[in-house]
Amino acid sequence: MRVAVLITGRGSNLRSLLEAAAEPGYPAKIVTVISNRPGAGGLAHAAAFGVPAQTVDHESFDGRKSFESALTAALEAAAVELICLAGFMRVLSAEFVSHWKDRIINIHPSLLPLFPGLDTHARALAAGVKLHGCSVHFVNETVDDGAIIGQAAVPVLPGDDADGLAARVLQAEHRLYPHCLRLLAEGRIRLIEGRTAVAGTADEVSDDHRLLNPDPGA
Ligand code: GRF
Repeated sequence: MRVAVLITGRGSNLRSLLEAAAEPGYPAKIVTVISNRPGAGGLAHAAAFGVPAQTVDHESFDGRKSFESALTAALEAAAVELICLAGFMRVLSAEFVSHWKDRIINIHPSLLPLFPGLDTHARALAAGVKLHGCSVHFVNETVDDGAIIGQAAVPVLPGDDADGLAARVLQAEHRLYPHCLRLLAEGRIRLIEGRTAVAGTADEVSDDHRLLNPDPGA
C-alpha cells in the first residue's frame, strides 16, 4: 500500500512509521512525506530514511481550497493510496475528506471519544481518569470523530503532570500507529456503519495487552 504521511512538527510518529516500513515484509510503503510548515523537524526523518519529502506551505496559498488542491495534486502525483496524518495541524475540509473518503487516518492522543481537540493530557488529568492513551481512527468531516481503528491505554500515575503523561502516551503512539497501519495495509480492517472490525487478531491478544488500573495485584 502506497502511503503518504502528513506532518506539521517534530514527526516522532512519522519516524515510528518509517522504522516499521523499513522492516522486511511490512505491507505499507511510505512514498512521500508532506509538511505544511517549512522546516518542520520531521522532514529530517524522511531524509534519513531516503523518503521523498516536500513542503506544501498553507501560508503561501490564498485559502484552504487552493492549499488542499495543491495537497491533492502532490498526493496524486505520488499515486498515494492512504494518507496518514501524524501531528498534522490543519483541519481538512469536508470536500478534501470526501475526495479521499476512507483513505485518511489520524493518530490522536486520547482514548476517543474522550478528549477530542487540543490539550488532551491536561484535560485527562483534570477529569481524573485512571486510564488515558491514544487512538488511531479514520478521518471524517468532524475533527477527531471518525471510526476508531485501534487504541492503546496507559495508566495515569500519582504525581503525573501533563508532560509526563504525554511522554508515556507518546511511547504508546509509536507502537500503535505502525500496528494499525499494518492491519489496514493487510486488508484486515473492515468499516461497517461507522465502526471497524478487525479480521484475525483474537489469537494474537496476549495478557500484556489487557490493562487494569489500579493494578489489582498492587
Ligand atoms: C502526537 O501526540 C499525535 O498524537 C498528535 O500530535 C502529536 C504529534 O507528535 N496528533 P509528533 O509530531 O508525531 O512527534
